[in-house]
Amino acid sequence: MKRVITYGTFDLLHYGHINLLKQAKAFGDFLIVGLSTDAFNEQEKGKHSFFSYEMRKDLLSSIRYVDLIIPEENWEQKADDIRRYEADIFVMGDDWEGKFDYLEQETGVKVIYVPRTPEISSTQIREMLGTKDS
Ligand code: CTP
Repeated sequence: MKRVITYGTFDLLHYGHINLLKQAKAFGDFLIVGLSTDAFNEQEKGKHSFFSYEMRKDLLSSIRYVDLIIPEENWEQKADDIRRYEADIFVMGDDWEGKFDYLEQETGVKVIYVPRTPEISSTQIREMLGTKDS
């Protein structure tokens, strides 16, 4: 059984996210999502999500491609998560191209960047909703 892991905020879940999750799941049999906590978003990523962690988690857990959701609380936890959850494949959208290549050396995981869906983002939706934060 191949285990895939990916990370993100997944605020205002949109079809770009669904595309990403669908592609990620297709690389294996079990998909783990590291979901950014509200504190991590605000303190490290500089964004205030529209939906709280618990709401984002509820939405994500209703997606058929998602098998397990774990909290993403810092930038450094990925190698530990990969070992703990025995992930074989690490997937991110290609806006992160190159940023996580080091995980291959560090953990033996295979890192794959998939094409980002054009013309949709949580930031864009938040802006359309008229919220000030990015
Ligand atoms: N993603 C994607 N296509 C999009 C938007 C996001 O493939 N149009 C992917 C990202 O590359 C990432 C995952 O979905 O691997 C989670 O991204 P996230 O940052 O939560 O979504 P964004 O819509 O980019 O959010 P924001 O605008 O707040 O950065």
